[in-house]
Amino acid sequence: MNTSRTIADCRGAVATFRKAGETVAMVPTMGFLHDGHMSLVALAKSHADRVVVSIFVNPAQFGEAADLDAYPRDEARDLGMLSAAGVDHVFLPETATMYPPGDETIVETTRLANILHGQVRPGHFRGVTTVVARLFNIVQPDIACFGEKDYQQLQVIKRMVADLHMPVRIFGGPTVREPDGLAMSSRNVRLAPADRRAAPVLSRALDAAADATRAGISVPALRDLITAMIAAEPRATLQGLDIVAAETLHPITGPLDGPTAIMLSVAFGDILLIDQRVVTP
Ligand code: PAF
Repeated sequence: MNTSRTIADCRGAVATFRKAGETVAMVPTMGFLHDGHMSLVALAKSHADRVVVSIFVNPAQFGEAADLDAYPRDEARDLGMLSAAGVDHVFLPETATMYPPGDETIVETTRLANILHGQVRPGHFRGVTTVVARLFNIVQPDIACFGEKDYQQLQVIKRMVADLHMPVRIFGGPTVREPDGLAMSSRNVRLAPADRRAAPVLSRALDAAADATRAGISVPALRDLITAMIAAEPRATLQGLDIVAAETLHPITGPLDGPTAIMLSVAFGDILLIDQRVVTP
């Protein structure tokens, strides 16, 4: 496995793969890798000859500088994990490489970025699409893999790729969970021990919601069910609950009769956890 920190070196590494007629898959990450990321690496490997991973903690998608500073980082550990997993190349740009002085171009999906989670974190998805578009332009992968856990992010990226006619196929990887059901996330390490014990309430509520959806529950009753389960956990504060059409993310107000995404965000102290289920009634 080799690494690069400049655009020229990264492009040089990819050009070597291309010269050999090889296909390239990309897994964009912000580092501090866990099994969820590694499952995306495995997905990428199963679809292409070569895998390129980027590690870049993207300032443009953080609302507050404090969140950016608190984001966990461990480059040496990440590189060890990626090398052991057989990744071919890791791109580790500096902020000034991704956002050179004087830059002014942003990429934004105007509707999808500003609903649901985007209302709670204004500018977040614009930061994601801007950096992912830049990463795609640098690496020019055939396919790219993103986790289904960040469900709105996945839909936003698919929209961007379709709208800008980017020649890259987007794959969503299933959420990887701890044995108690908690979706893996770099934020989990920041939970206080009691909050960590309480956090599986998200997946329990979503499991119950998925069962009830398949059994024909109405949208208001589904909301009540999830709200009551979160309220029963004193350390958890419900921040967002969205029941939406799985692809467009339009809110569902009538009967549940097509693929439905149930998206949940719950705060434990100042840590916000998200999880989701896609269910077909
Ligand atoms: O999902 C993430 O880790 C980030 O949002 C991404 C896609 C790497 C863009 O910075």
